[in-house]
Formats: sequence, C-alpha cells, structure tokens
Amino acid sequence: MEQYAIRGGNPLVGEVEIGGAKNAALAILAAAIMTDETVIIENVPDVRDTNVLMQAMESIGVQIERIDRHTVKINAQPINNVVIEKDFIKKIRASYYLIGALSGKYKKAMVALPGGCNIGLRPIDQHIKGLRALGVEVKIEHGLIVTEAERIKGSHIYMDVVSVGATINIMLAAVMAEGRTTIENAAKEPHVVDLANFLNSCGANIKGAGTDMIKIRGVAKLHGTQYAIIPDQIEAGTFMFAAAVTKGDVTVKNVIPKHLESISSKLLEIGCEVEESDDAVRVVAAKPLVHTHVKTLPYPGFPTDMQPQIAVTLALSQGTSIVTESIFENRFRYVDELIRMGANIKVEGNTAIIDGVSQYTGASITAPDLRAGAALVIAGLAAEGITTIDDIKYIERGYEDFHLKLQLLGAQIEKVNTERELQKFNLKTG
Ligand code: EPZ
Repeated sequence: MEQYAIRGGNPLVGEVEIGGAKNAALAILAAAIMTDETVIIENVPDVRDTNVLMQAMESIGVQIERIDRHTVKINAQPINNVVIEKDFIKKIRASYYLIGALSGKYKKAMVALPGGCNIGLRPIDQHIKGLRALGVEVKIEHGLIVTEAERIKGSHIYMDVVSVGATINIMLAAVMAEGRTTIENAAKEPHVVDLANFLNSCGANIKGAGTDMIKIRGVAKLHGTQYAIIPDQIEAGTFMFAAAVTKGDVTVKNVIPKHLESISSKLLEIGCEVEESDDAVRVVAAKPLVHTHVKTLPYPGFPTDMQPQIAVTLALSQGTSIVTESIFENRFRYVDELIRMGANIKVEGNTAIIDGVSQYTGASITAPDLRAGAALVIAGLAAEGITTIDDIKYIERGYEDFHLKLQLLGAQIEKVNTERELQKFNLKTG
C-alpha cells in the first residue's frame, strides 16, 4: 500500500507554485456541460476529485480532451443520457453539481447520492429545497437523486444554512430558468464567485456573487468560452502553515492574497512574519510560535478546510489554544493520530483544547480525510525522526504532487510502496 515516508526536522525554504482551486474546478467542470458549444478550462488541478468528475461526465457522452496537464477542452453536445449511477461517483461530493447542471439544461437528472470525505453529517436538504423552489420535482430512489421539471422558473430562495454546495447547485439550476432567481444567505466563498464569473463568460446574467444575495436573470442559452480557474486558497494555506510549523521561510506563488486574509491573520497572531505582494505571500517563522484561538466559519471567516493545519501548528506553539469547529462535527479525527506523535490535545464536542508541546516525534499514522491527511504530513515534517502516513489516497483527492512540491522546499518526503522502499528511505535520509 502506498504511504508517505517523512523524515522531519528540515525547515521548509523556497518558493512553491499553487495550482487551480479544486473546489472551483469541480463546480466549473460540471457547469461546462450546460452549453453545447466548446469550453476550454485552464488551471484545472490534476487531482483525483476533478478526474473522477470528468470520468462521470464522459460516462454520459461529454467529450473531454486534455490539451495539457491543466487545460481541458469540453464539449457537451453529444450528451446521450442524464443517468450517472456508477459506483465511482459516490467517492466524490461534487457529483451533486451534475444534478443542478443536468436539471438546469435538460430538466431531468438521475445521479447517485454523493459521498465525499467523512467529516460529519452532510445533508443535502438545502439543495433539494432550492431545486423544488425552482419548480424541480426531487425524489430519492434506490440511492439516486432523481429530478424532473416541466419548466424551471426563477424564485426567491432563502438558505437556512450557509452552504457552498447548495449555493452552487441552485446557481446551476437557475442560470437558464425562466425569470429571476435570488439566493439569500448565499455562500460567499471565492469558488462561488469563480463559478459566477465562468457562467457569465458563457453569457449568463449573475450578479452579487461574493455577497450574501445572488441575483440571477435566466438566459435561454449559454455559449462557449475560455476560462482560467482561480488559485487554490486551501493548498496555499496548507503550505503557509507548513512554513510556520517547520520554522521555515516559504513564498507561495500564484495566489490571490485577498483570499488568504483569514489565514495570514492567524499566522501573524502566532508570531510569523507574512509579506504580501500582488500574487504571492511569503511566510517566515523566525520566532517561537505562540498560542491563539480560532473558530471555523463560512468565508471570509477562517476556513474549516484549514482547521487541521492550524491545529497541528498550534499544538507546537507555546501556551493553550482553543480551536472550535463550527461547520462539520466530525473534523477532529486526526487528533488521535497527532497524540501518537506527542501532541497534547483534548477534544470536547466541537472544541479542541490544545496545550502546546515543544516537539513531535515521528510515528506510523493514517490520514483520516483530505485536509486532516495534509495536516498530518506537515506534522511529520516538523517531527523528530520518521513518520509514515497511510491512506494517502485521501490527500491525493485534493493536492497535486504534494510530496514533490514539498521536496522542492527541502522536505525529506517520499512515496513508498513496500517495506524495502521504506528501509531504503530510512537509510538514505538517516
Ligand atoms: C464544500 O462542501 C467543500 N466541498 C468542502 O471542501 C468544504 O469543507 C465546505 O464546502 C465548507 O467550506 C466542495 O466544494 C466540493 P457546505 P459542501 O454545503 O458544499 C450544512 C475539502 O476538503 N448543510 O458549505 O458539502 C453542512 O452540514 C472539502 O476540499 C446543510 O445543513 O459544504 C455543513 O454543516 C471537504 N444542508 C454546512 O452546511 C445542506 O443541504 C456547510 O456545508 C448543505 C449543507
């Protein structure tokens, strides 16, 4: 089984290039099926989730050509059915964007209920409420979400919880609806804005994305476009905390610093230096790190997708820190693994109370999900000795070439497949 083998202790130093945002790419790839004209999408990250989504799109007839590793050419004109029930699609959350996109274009869809990372209950009631408000009949049958509509009519939709997925799905279903739709209490995440920009470049009429009120005037048809996806805020944040925890000096390049403000603020609070330029952020951790408190919130608050990475850093910072997870209830599953590495953390409900220790020690651990897995990698980079991490398939869902990018910053990390390869790594790095 593939593992990461890490020998910790090297400060990360240098520059790292950030790729396209996975969660924006998932929404935009699904949206690309809403026009019969050709769409070219640039800066698509080559990660498992985007590849699985494209495989699902191909299974219903969408033509997808990879022009290069990060550019895809999509033509949805040959779509020949609206049923996606293959097992593989259950592995990803974003399969549900195909419900919004197919319903919006063909007025019907049948898609397997979504899976995704095990980070807590992940209901879809707000998606269903939004679709129904637009006149779409929604049923759950035999593990599939089945939709059908005679007409899709614009509506005023108030979201009871701020949901990225439901906001995106409703935008997709409403973009070609008759009349106007307003989404109140909408999610404001950068990928919601990126989707709106993409759809507008295809001829949609969406205003207000990035605020809590999105206004959509339905258009009859969308046309082709060429569009580049925004940089991945969470990949960037992960490298920023990797710099902090290893006492390094890393410049993350190709980012939008505005999207990283909540992350930069926390790094400043714990004693790092953060320098911003137009499209890069440099993090230097020259002084001892100190405790802080953090609560995850929808954008522009501190992202839940960065909660494990900050916790791993706080567990090596002086004093007592409190981390409150307010979005997903099951996002502390990495804590047991971190305790094996010497961390002092107690979880009570949705709060982790962290007493900083001076050192982690390497251990054999398992990635419980995508972001927690990445956080455990950065813990391994700071630990004394060897850490091995199993289940790296989770990490590969959302990080392209993670270990290779870390190697370029001076990390001793390799993917190993066998005991023998692990021994070789131990000898080489010892
Ligand atoms: C998106 O998930 C991201 N996934 C997640 O990224 C991210 O953690 C999350 O947003 C929050 O930022 C994708 O973009 C593919 P939500 P999503 O709907 O859309 C509740 C990663 O690591 N809710 O914003 O599934 C829900 O339970 C991942 O890249 C309802 O109650 O999240 C949660 O408490 C993991 N009813 C809150 O809303 C609904 O119908 C926010 O969830 C929908 C959601």
